[in-house]
Amino acid sequence: MKKLLAVIACLPVLLQNCAKTNDTPEPVSSVSTVSSVSSVSTASSVLSTTTYNYLVTFPAHIQTALAATDNMPANNPITNDGAILGRVLFYDKNLSFNRTVSCGSCHKQANAFDDEVALSKGFDNALTTRNSMSLLNIRFYKSGKMFWDERAATVEKQALQPIQNHLEMGLTLAELESRVKAQSYYPALFQKAFGSTSIDSVKIAKALAQFERSIVTYQSKYDRVKQGLETFTTLEARGEQVFLTAPANAGAVSCAGCHTPPMFLTSTPAGAFAFPREAGINGQPRFKSGSLRNISTRKFLFHNGTIADVSTMLNAGVPAHGVPRPDVAALLAFFNTLTDDSITSDPKFSNPFKQ
Ligand code: HEC
Ligand code: HEC
Repeated sequence: MKKLLAVIACLPVLLQNCAKTNDTPEPVSSVSTVSSVSSVSTASSVLSTTTYNYLVTFPAHIQTALAATDNMPANNPITNDGAILGRVLFYDKNLSFNRTVSCGSCHKQANAFDDEVALSKGFDNALTTRNSMSLLNIRFYKSGKMFWDERAATVEKQALQPIQNHLEMGLTLAELESRVKAQSYYPALFQKAFGSTSIDSVKIAKALAQFERSIVTYQSKYDRVKQGLETFTTLEARGEQVFLTAPANAGAVSCAGCHTPPMFLTSTPAGAFAFPREAGINGQPRFKSGSLRNISTRKFLFHNGTIADVSTMLNAGVPAHGVPRPDVAALLAFFNTLTDDSITSDPKFSNPFKQ
């Protein structure tokens, strides 16, 4: 455990303090969670007091991608106490106007931190104007820009926007701070995370971002294959080739050119995918894509939620999003290998509030 923590502490921002262990991370096959039941001084009648380790050593193929694309800023590295606080904030319904909605209401762990509907309900039952996004692997979106139209410059800046959105959670920043200060369990959590019991929206955003950046998939069949621990079936292997090489219908760019392995995510896509008449990135008719990890299990895709699922997408004639009919089954088989069941069940990402 100590060794694991030491290796993990060598994240890029701390590189200068690290020995060569950082260059040669140990392959991790299946164990993600090192948990210890040490008590946090929180109001244990309200909250689970189990603490978890969020500082994971990723297998080499993930570590390489992280080194190239990490958007974690030097002033907000993930710490266990920061992520633990972020988890509580993420699931705390006190952060919405009538205390009915939390981040976790629209970003559900069981749904890969996405919602299972096309448009989500805010605190007052009004619908969001766009489809909820999966929060898997947002740490690997190099530019750090968040939302379908990239209007938030960083994960930290994004975190306070749903809280202030009049449809989603409906608070002002002043109200947010007083709501958090009013809960008995927060001073101790802020003390551990930031060395002081003082509470403000900047720290709230930082803790939420630490928790979100720790939501990383690396335990799917795809990952085991990349570590040489398992092999693809013939169909899955063909699906991977289709994904990597076949130019999508409408242009010369492959699926991978815009959805780059191993996180199936990139903030610098090889082509633009236009959506007529809709203002997205910089007011132009185009949007970002989040990570395609766990895509087989997700419902209602694209920024407007109009595509029911990935199999519908491949048959729906969406520009740049079709493949020749014989390749459909192969691609779907390949997508199944991207499903990481641990991320949707690991208690360290679950709701810590006791009902
Ligand atoms: C009422 C539903 C709802 C709630 C509550 C909610 N979100 Fe979201 N979230 C969405 C929708 C919808 C989008 C896409 C909105 C857009 O792009 O305009 C989104 C997008 C995001 C993104 C962007 C992901 C990316 O890849 O660009 C992040 C990060 C995020 N939410 C985090 C949070 C956090 C943190 C909270 C709590 C403070 C939260 N959300 C609360 C519905 C919700
Ligand atoms: C030119 C870039 C580009 C290419 C090529 C491309 N995509 Fe996409 N893809 C995107 C963008 C951008 C989005 C989000 C668009 C939106 O919501 O308006 C997207 C969305 C998706 C989604 C839905 C993601 C979600 O979270 O809702 C899936 C699945 C997908 N693409 C798979 C594929 C496959 C499979 C291929 C190859 C057949 C492919 N893409 C080719 C850019 C591309």
